[in-house]
Amino acid sequence: MKKQFLSVTLIAALTLGTAGTTTALATPHSSPVLSAPSTDKQVIKKIDADQIYRNIEYLSQTPRVAGTDSEYKAVQFIKKQFKSYGYKADIEEFNFLSYTDPNLVELSVAGFDGEIQANHLTYSVNGDLSGEVVYAGLGTKEELEETDVSGKIALIQRGSLTFAEKVLNAAEKGAAGVILFNNADGELNGTLGEDNDKYIPSVTITKKDGEALLEKLNAGVKLTASLKIEGAYSGEKTSYNVVATKKATKNNKAKKSDIIYITGHHDSVAGAPGANDDASGTSVTLELARVLKNLPTDTEIRFVTFGAEENGLLGSQHYVNNLPDDDIKRTIANFNLDMVGSRDAGDLVILTNDGEMNLVTELAQASSTRLNGEPTPYGQGGRSDHVSFAEAGIPAALFIHSPSEPWYHTPDDSIDKISKEKLQDVAEIVGTAVYDQAKIEAKKPDPNHKKGKKVKVPHLFDEKEFR
Ligand code: BES
Ligand code: ZN
Repeated sequence: MKKQFLSVTLIAALTLGTAGTTTALATPHSSPVLSAPSTDKQVIKKIDADQIYRNIEYLSQTPRVAGTDSEYKAVQFIKKQFKSYGYKADIEEFNFLSYTDPNLVELSVAGFDGEIQANHLTYSVNGDLSGEVVYAGLGTKEELEETDVSGKIALIQRGSLTFAEKVLNAAEKGAAGVILFNNADGELNGTLGEDNDKYIPSVTITKKDGEALLEKLNAGVKLTASLKIEGAYSGEKTSYNVVATKKATKNNKAKKSDIIYITGHHDSVAGAPGANDDASGTSVTLELARVLKNLPTDTEIRFVTFGAEENGLLGSQHYVNNLPDDDIKRTIANFNLDMVGSRDAGDLVILTNDGEMNLVTELAQASSTRLNGEPTPYGQGGRSDHVSFAEAGIPAALFIHSPSEPWYHTPDDSIDKISKEKLQDVAEIVGTAVYDQAKIEAKKPDPNHKKGKKVKVPHLFDEKEFR
């Protein structure tokens, strides 16, 4: 039902043209900004890149990991900023399960010369144990049936089964711990996927070290390993979303107004100040709330910064899952801003979860054409909070620069890498796109923009391995 409603709205939106947009398109290279409609100028003249920059500077003093005091401090700051722009801002609280990495992982093997570097598997439990090392192949149920692992440490090779299946198979047969070795070169950044009471302490080692241990065992050498994991913690934490709403100033007829969302996420990963990911999107969201505050609209605009995005889009999932059906039906667009200010990243792109154009890409390609003389390209991409909206049938897109900067998710994602020009450009494109749709008597986007420029966006690295 919801989807049907939205697609009808969307088709209507795409088939009706706007004279203003067509005019700007007809002369795309003759000083686009000067020929931009006056409604664009009303938005642009208010955007202050210094203000956005100062908010990023404040937020990026520390990492803002979901569920920590520093996230809470960021949330209070965001609320205070919304209030200073004249909004009544609400903080919504939600709980989530999270895993805190251990602060100590140690593996030593008597009878084996040389040090072995061991990494924990995410969701591994703590432990301090020692036992004989026995090889259990790929850790299948059959192999564990044939191997006596009781009270021992199972040495298991990566492949075929998930890490969790291997660990549970070994645990079921009474193993005390598991050493998993890689089947390819390089370190293994593995996860058990989720919390489970049945897990036993588990670590990963390289292929080279695993094969060296196996060689000793095959030669009949008895190996005893000591394994220590300390400080890991699985438990419930609290994170927050911050919501500010600009009600429609004038509502067409008796019909309830449409809703547009402008969003970003305020949390960061551990160890990263997250100036670009995503204090930048949070601060552009704040700035657009300030800029649009007193402009007349017949559409409701909601500004939201989400928590726990880095834990799996949890804040936006919680938010969208708790929206009343009527709000979902009225929502016509989500403009999600994530990583929008790095001087070291590439150009702006607009990514949709399914790689298809929608009302958001339409509006933003129209506004970028009016402002810059050419449409911002679009492509396919998930990995941020627009996915939660898209999954509810809402036209949604991510605004991001591609390729990403090398500082992504590192301690160097700091304020000195932020470009005010990039912030200004994104704020203008998104601000004018939203206002074009939300302003009173707005006509719908030009169908000529339907064939926007499509880009391929490289997929990135650093994903956790489950198998
Ligand atoms: N801002 C990133 C997403 C991103 C980075 C998209 C680079 C495209 C290029 C986001 O905060 C993030 O890190 N997301 C996670 C996935 C999420 C579901 C936990 C990721 O991509 O690993
Ligand atoms: Zn992000």
